[in-house]
Amino acid sequence: MRKQLTSLALWIAASCIFLTGQNTEAASPEEFNQKMAVGVNLGNCLEAPNEGDWGLKIEPEYLKLIADAGFKHVRVPIRWSAHALKEAPYTVEVKFFERVDEVVKEALNNKLLVVLNMHHYGEFEVAPDAQQTRFKAIWHQIAEHFSKASKDVAFEIYNEPCKEITDERWNKLYPEVLQDIRKSNPDRVVVVGTVKYDNVHKLESLQVPDSDRHIIVTVHYYEPFHFTHQGAEWAGAESAKWLGITWKGTDVEKSSVDADFDIAAKWGKDHNRPVYLGEFGAYSKADIDSRARWTRYVREAAVQSGLSAAYWEFGSGFGVYDPQGKKWREPLLHALVGK
Ligand code: GLC
Repeated sequence: MRKQLTSLALWIAASCIFLTGQNTEAASPEEFNQKMAVGVNLGNCLEAPNEGDWGLKIEPEYLKLIADAGFKHVRVPIRWSAHALKEAPYTVEVKFFERVDEVVKEALNNKLLVVLNMHHYGEFEVAPDAQQTRFKAIWHQIAEHFSKASKDVAFEIYNEPCKEITDERWNKLYPEVLQDIRKSNPDRVVVVGTVKYDNVHKLESLQVPDSDRHIIVTVHYYEPFHFTHQGAEWAGAESAKWLGITWKGTDVEKSSVDADFDIAAKWGKDHNRPVYLGEFGAYSKADIDSRARWTRYVREAAVQSGLSAAYWEFGSGFGVYDPQGKKWREPLLHALVGK
């Protein structure tokens, strides 16, 4: 009996350590953003219909590699909608929560901050009104599930709001979701993006509730799009015509990046909100020298503008890491974490 009680106590202690991780103190979003520094997206894994469908699964050793390389956080794109009932009560599969828990645990064990998002809920993008009850119900479950998790874990309400998710709809819906998240996670950092795919030019129309001081605002950056998305199959047949476009780092090229980051920095300052560049990257069909130059320049522009940043992505088509060869793509790695 005593032995049983001891193991029970040990089990409870172990679970608490996992649930709370190292950090039970909520950082201000400014501190959190600073600590995030430069990170990487674990893309093409948990936001595929099923993990592995797009050729990559998150292996525990990846989190160690990422931390050892000098990245400070991981953004974890997640297709929750593929693992929740289609009808009320829209229950999220226990097994899927367990899988996300494993990834979070491994990241925290390696002292990485974590951003958990909701990604590729396609039905929501085309019919946000019809899907909003389900959207909210899924978020309610995520919020409750992670309510005791380490404060090193942040939530991001939706990746790249787009299509029918207009300014008007987004500015009404996301604060309602946020309000519900706050019931179980009063001071957790929550990341919110702009419409038109987390567009920097849409910051102006994003309304952020004044009373909530635990928010980080996010944008993505893939400009010039014809360079970063050349040959990208999902960008349409046109993208084949962009093959061969380079990025030399001319004054004109640089000043166009600078102008966009000035907008983000100014918006953050004017609105007193930290800003996070949650995605930036150039697809593998562009030449590696251009990719490395662009990646370094954008990373530096983000950091100089006071933004945290996460490269898109770890080990797939944009990959800074080559999982087959089990090695970093050095020019990209240096562009991201080098001096
Ligand atoms: C967005 C999309 C993702 C895509 C990436 C680069 O995050 O959701 O699927 O790979 O941008 O285009």
